[in-house]
Amino acid sequence: MAILPIVRLGHPALRRPAEPLALGRLGERPVRRLIDDMIATMRDAEGVGLAAPQVGMAIQLFVYEAVDEDEPGGGIPLRVVVNPMLEPIPGEMVYDWEGCLSIPDLRGLVPRHPAVRVRGLDRDGGPLDYVAEGFEARIVQHEFDHLNGVVFLDRMRDLQSLAYYEEWEEFLREAATRPSKARPE
Ligand code: NI
Repeated sequence: MAILPIVRLGHPALRRPAEPLALGRLGERPVRRLIDDMIATMRDAEGVGLAAPQVGMAIQLFVYEAVDEDEPGGGIPLRVVVNPMLEPIPGEMVYDWEGCLSIPDLRGLVPRHPAVRVRGLDRDGGPLDYVAEGFEARIVQHEFDHLNGVVFLDRMRDLQSLAYYEEWEEFLREAATRPSKARPE
């Protein structure tokens, strides 16, 4: 397995819509290797999710995992999601902090749907159909956005909460998130 370079904001790969992966290609060695490398890269970077465009591949594929059960929202097992479709479950938008491996050191408050139905394929081409809630729903929406050339900054209602990690830890971490407001998407 290899640790892949993660592209950062400004790289055109982050703004390019990803293409669906042909089902037959899922078993191919380069794709299997890409998935393994993305998992290794996410873990190495201590991220909770990574989408293929972040490693320069315009493929509808992302991985996520939040194993640290001591962290809020932790205990989410590894998922590999290919060619996803998301369907928001109706509910008030929820604001919480997000960061991104492609936008290092920054955090901001982002509104997300509280739950989403995820449909797609797993790494073996098997069907996926499940509901993600809470922190997992947030991760899924963040990673899905990457497949459409969207980053969390685009989803912020305003940039007032944008902060560097160090300052966020010092001043903002404990601050209450703003009341959520429904927004049609
Ligand atoms: Ni990201």
